[in-house]
Amino acid sequence: MVLNRAAAALDWVMDKSLVLGYTRVGPALRRAWWPHDPAPGALVGRHVLVTGASGGLGLATARGLARLGATVHLTGRDASRLDTARSALLEEQPLAEVVTHAADVSDLAGTAEFARAFAVEVPRLHAVVHNAGVMPPQRTTTPEGHELALATHVLGPHVLTYGLRGPLAGGRVVLVTSGGAYGQRLDADDPEYTEAGRGAYSAVTAYARTKRMQLVLAELWARDLDADGIRVHSMHPGWADTPGVTDSLPRFAALAGPLLRDADSGADTAVWLAATSDAIGTGGLWHDRRRRSRHYLPVGVGTAEDVEAFWRFVRDETGVPASGAGRDDGPGA
Ligand SMILES: NC(=O)c1ccc[n+]([C@@H]2O[C@H](COP(=O)([O-])OP(=O)(O)OC[C@H]3O[C@@H](n4cnc5c(N)ncnc54)[C@H](OP(=O)(O)O)[C@@H]3O)[C@@H](O)[C@H]2O)c1
Repeated sequence: MVLNRAAAALDWVMDKSLVLGYTRVGPALRRAWWPHDPAPGALVGRHVLVTGASGGLGLATARGLARLGATVHLTGRDASRLDTARSALLEEQPLAEVVTHAADVSDLAGTAEFARAFAVEVPRLHAVVHNAGVMPPQRTTTPEGHELALATHVLGPHVLTYGLRGPLAGGRVVLVTSGGAYGQRLDADDPEYTEAGRGAYSAVTAYARTKRMQLVLAELWARDLDADGIRVHSMHPGWADTPGVTDSLPRFAALAGPLLRDADSGADTAVWLAATSDAIGTGGLWHDRRRRSRHYLPVGVGTAEDVEAFWRFVRDETGVPASGAGRDDGPGA
């Protein structure tokens, strides 16, 4: 959709001001010009997997997808939280098809096994929404030895995407990243954020670094999976009122308070990307149904060598060698 100049300018100012664009003001105004909703029933007969769907934005994404008729598959680490989420969805939409899977995406071996079993259960998957997210207060490593935010946001999603490559043929991948990525450049030298490499650990920095990696990863996947007809996009939700924000960033949540958008508004673009019939290509970063720049300031600009090193790292650490496209002239960081 082509915006008129005034709407495009206002949209841009809102985006750069952060407060106007990321809060509930963003969707309240942009709704006037953003692309139309997917058709009712657009996802009837289709399966969509949403990671981290026991609460927050993941649950809101599942709700939006179910409203469009999808069979939604929810993952999370805690089976009882998933049951509660499923009950909440069914209470609102009694006819919805909701399946839960206890699965920890930061466990790479477990995720590979989960993908194998899931592919048997669901041989045709319309989309996966990589939403699971964490902000570990202290540097934490998984039993496999990876820094937890890296494993949850980057390595696990890579294993899951490529494990589901067959069922996803012709489908879509959506990676839920964060505006926090704008503050970090790609760090290919020390992706595990070791103290020796980068000084004292900061939870916000650890989180934002891996969100920057997700932006790069989405572009690499888009190129690599294009041959399978799989379209890949990343999106960021703005600032939404979720347990993740109130628990991990209590001061920010108190300050932003009533300005935070609700979870449904935060999840809107993920649902739209999974369901729209608009020709939106592949490899974009989206927010409020509009493509956005990957860089706020030049801080995010990395080199082709950084991207290549990062791509090699992801493939080596996961043991999941992508097909090869995207290695030579990968996207800018
Ligand atoms: N809310 C915002 O304003 C905001 C802004 C920017 C980006 N985001 C992104 O949006 C996504 C969702 O955030 P949120 O605010 O909704 O967070 P949230 O309220 O903390 O929810 C996170 C979800 O992820 C699940 N999860 C965490 N680790 C997991 C793992 N290893 N495997 C599987 N599931 C896991 C959690 O369930 P269990 O703990 O039961 O596993 C929960 O369902 C994240 O990727 C976050 O970075 C959010």
